[in-house]
Amino acid sequence: MAQDDSPGGTPGGFPRKIIIDTDPGQDDAVALLLALASPELDVLGITAVAGNVPLPLTEKNARKIRALAGRAEVPVYAGADRPLRRALVTAEAVHGRTGLDGPDLPEPADPLGQEHAVDFIVGTLRDQPAGAVTLCTLGPLTNIALAFEQAPELVSRIREIVAMGGGAFEGGNTTPVAEFNILVDPEAAQAVLAAAHDAGVPVTMLPLDVTHQARTRGDRIARLRDIGTPVSAAVVAMLEFAERFDEAKYGTDGGPLHDPCVIAWLIAPEIFDGRVVNVEIETGSELTLGQTVVDWWGVTSRPRNVRFIRSIDADAFFALLTERIARLSG
Ligand code: RIB
Ligand code: CA
Repeated sequence: MAQDDSPGGTPGGFPRKIIIDTDPGQDDAVALLLALASPELDVLGITAVAGNVPLPLTEKNARKIRALAGRAEVPVYAGADRPLRRALVTAEAVHGRTGLDGPDLPEPADPLGQEHAVDFIVGTLRDQPAGAVTLCTLGPLTNIALAFEQAPELVSRIREIVAMGGGAFEGGNTTPVAEFNILVDPEAAQAVLAAAHDAGVPVTMLPLDVTHQARTRGDRIARLRDIGTPVSAAVVAMLEFAERFDEAKYGTDGGPLHDPCVIAWLIAPEIFDGRVVNVEIETGSELTLGQTVVDWWGVTSRPRNVRFIRSIDADAFFALLTERIARLSG
């Protein structure tokens, strides 16, 4: 697909060094597996944040997925257990009590990293060359906002921030106008966008407008099942559990596969289309709290601070996902 504005990502070396901040969550789990299976990416670490389920579960789930991928050497760290200023809102109705309902995965044997996730993010940005590290965010942006508060001078060293969150023409999925990751911690989202803009760091947002086009569907699940490995069986069990909520809500065959779109953007930006526009976060109104206000038509003079992705070649996306999951023997 032709890109409106620059092609995906920015120069900074191969394989691309990334930190994945996540609140697993079945879709987070598939995103982690996609990243860990892809030679284009060097996963420096996984940082867990409270979101879909509380932090003790998101960090354990991240370690379960690391084990499923057979990548014990990738460190996992626990971060914020609640948003910057608000009470935590979770999503057990979608993801189940464990946050990873569906497959029966063993308790993780490999330990959690001893550092706080925020200290790991700050330390990595300090130690890695400027422009080398991409932050991939799959949950609320609390850890990222705390890292930027702790070390504002390091923000400019980030290559790109690629975030699953927000929505414009698609509206919200948790309130009529707010998407879950942004709604859980709108102040964090606002702070991250402001700091990135001030530091000249590109932000790419994968919102509901694009993730709702990347729907699991009977034939797509079947191709994943046909891989016939322990990893693909776990992926199918996760997706079949998670999609039931959205199938009932939207009346569709299958449900949106949100977080893997972040990783697919890094691997195959050509299957996406978007536009650099102004995006602001509503943090004052209880009615529209967490809304991403997207100036798609350029009717304001507000700075164009986000590459807002609006479409995807869903068949190409699932072909990529299936091919990469097949690489994980598990
Ligand atoms: O709104 C979808 C997002 O919220 C996804 O990241 C999902 O995992 C949940 O965190
Ligand atoms: Ca998530």
